[in-house]
Amino acid sequence: MIVTSAPAKVILVGEHFVVENEPAIALAVELRARAIVEPIQGYEKIYISRNYNCLLRFSNDKIIKRGNVEVLSPILKIGEILESIAGVRKGFKLVIESDIPPASGMGSSAAVAVATVTAMGKLYGIDLTHEDITRIAYEAEKLVHGTPSGIDNTVSTYGGVIVFRKNEGFIKLDVDLSSIRVIIADSGIPRSTGAMVKAVRELRKRYPSVFDPLYHTAGRLAIETAKALEDGDFKRVGELMNVNHGLLSAIGVSNIKLEELVYTARSKGALGAKITGAGGGGSIIALVYVDEVEEVAEALNKISKKVYVLEIAKEGVRIERTNE
Ligand code: MEV
Repeated sequence: MIVTSAPAKVILVGEHFVVENEPAIALAVELRARAIVEPIQGYEKIYISRNYNCLLRFSNDKIIKRGNVEVLSPILKIGEILESIAGVRKGFKLVIESDIPPASGMGSSAAVAVATVTAMGKLYGIDLTHEDITRIAYEAEKLVHGTPSGIDNTVSTYGGVIVFRKNEGFIKLDVDLSSIRVIIADSGIPRSTGAMVKAVRELRKRYPSVFDPLYHTAGRLAIETAKALEDGDFKRVGELMNVNHGLLSAIGVSNIKLEELVYTARSKGALGAKITGAGGGGSIIALVYVDEVEEVAEALNKISKKVYVLEIAKEGVRIERTNE
């Protein structure tokens, strides 16, 4: 049996703008998705998602489906890619389980994809580098989100804090985050990242002269935030997060619930608070000194579906167990 896990992510600044090649900053956080693979006799393939309670089984000429198997299509894609790289056919049972709430802005699909690539690579005996893992996971992400930037699969693979730019790659920042916590408050409003990205891109196409400077500003903001992080100046980071939230409102991805969560977090002492991820629903992120966590989390708890107080996951994808 092979067990792998990969962390969730939160975007500190730069979501949406990153799709158009502006820099953005993401953190891996300690909530994980796991892939569990067991080889089985014969050429039979069984895919199971515990969270979605579905199963897809290919045995001989028979296909058995249980539940909404559509959600498994990125996983199937990963299986196909790795089988073709390995050039051998193998029977297996793959089980996916995740602590990361789906459609909440925390990169659950990317973490599932990254954990799956790593587990399946081991099953097929392929030596995958982190670069290979994130590249193959990105193929699966495209099936889920349409035109993703690749930031989610990158941070889930490498862990830590990254500054990412779509056409240039990423660098890891060496930041001591021990004095702060990240609070995520889930609005409880589900939404599709792909649909949000499409809506923003369409609005931008209609007003290029208005949107171009906003995108430029967001890029500068990400660079300023990286400097503030490296200086360990979280007050500046928080201020810049607040400015970034204003930009996200401007491009149309906020709503009344997200605003309520953001302003509640700020009024209770968060250094900064903003939408994280695609918006339109999903979650907000608040940056908080350890001492202020209780007050901010308590206030958010009253008005949000679920609140997470998270630590940074220094490690990205990892093998938890292997008998292979
Ligand atoms: C999704 O976590 C963040 C977006 O910027 C989309 C992407 O980068 O692919 C909205």
